[in-house]
Amino acid sequence: MKDVVALAKEVVQLAGELVVSFLGKPSIEHKGASYNLVTIADRQSEKRIIDFLRKEMPESSILSEETLSETDLSTDSLWIVDPLDGTTNFAHGVPHFGISAAYAEKGRIIAGVVYDPMRKELFSAFAGGGAYCKGERIHVSKNATLEQSLICTGFFYDRGAMMEKTLNAIHELFIKKIHCMRRMGAASLDLTWLACGRFDGYFEYTLSPWDFAAGLLILQEAGGRASGPDGRDADLFSKGLICSNGLIHEEFLGTVLNPGRF
Ligand code: IPD
Ligand code: CA
Ligand code: CA
Repeated sequence: MKDVVALAKEVVQLAGELVVSFLGKPSIEHKGASYNLVTIADRQSEKRIIDFLRKEMPESSILSEETLSETDLSTDSLWIVDPLDGTTNFAHGVPHFGISAAYAEKGRIIAGVVYDPMRKELFSAFAGGGAYCKGERIHVSKNATLEQSLICTGFFYDRGAMMEKTLNAIHELFIKKIHCMRRMGAASLDLTWLACGRFDGYFEYTLSPWDFAAGLLILQEAGGRASGPDGRDADLFSKGLICSNGLIHEEFLGTVLNPGRF
């Protein structure tokens, strides 16, 4: 078997350099809603990643955000790519975004790599092999209560029921006296920041596989716990995530699974 972690590390760094070269000149387009953006960096990064993976592993399928295809997540050999996660930040010149690549076989995530090109932080994991940032093992935080926790969230591109539910959950979390909330704007980095102990919990009710496939494995390999928005254990097929350092999981899930009137 090819060294899929090494391939993923190489390609996300190549793509990251390319993305950074467009910072400040994003040439923004819209995908449907006026607030759902795509930039030249998303497209160029995607092209570079797909060209690389097709050459290195021509037998594999590729699921990548900007060239959506009818891809079966259970296929034998699949790359799942977000060529630029945090497009809204990028489009506004906010230097917080990532490039994410995961490799899965028959629906099981085997490898995940997330690169933050501004901080030059490269997060990686191989199933059963632990999680790393810049070559060092990483672990989730040890905070055991919501009252000791910094929680991160995201809103997908929904301005309706999902947004309301998220706002309700934030309200409930503040009632539980969390240290504070963060909305950083790049799901892949939210997960890796949870994996290395900067956050204690992260939830987002709607996500796509390219947003979380790599970050989910990195989190699990760092000792974290992840549920889907239905409360069951998360996997590649989950439609969103409620995840934590494990220690606060029951309290966190109990608070955000069905917040307020929802
Ligand atoms: C988005 C970001 C954002 C999250 C959204 C994602 P994109 O990805 O990860 O933080 O809240 O749900 O869709 O569109 O920037 O790749
Ligand atoms: Ca994304
Ligand atoms: Ca994206």
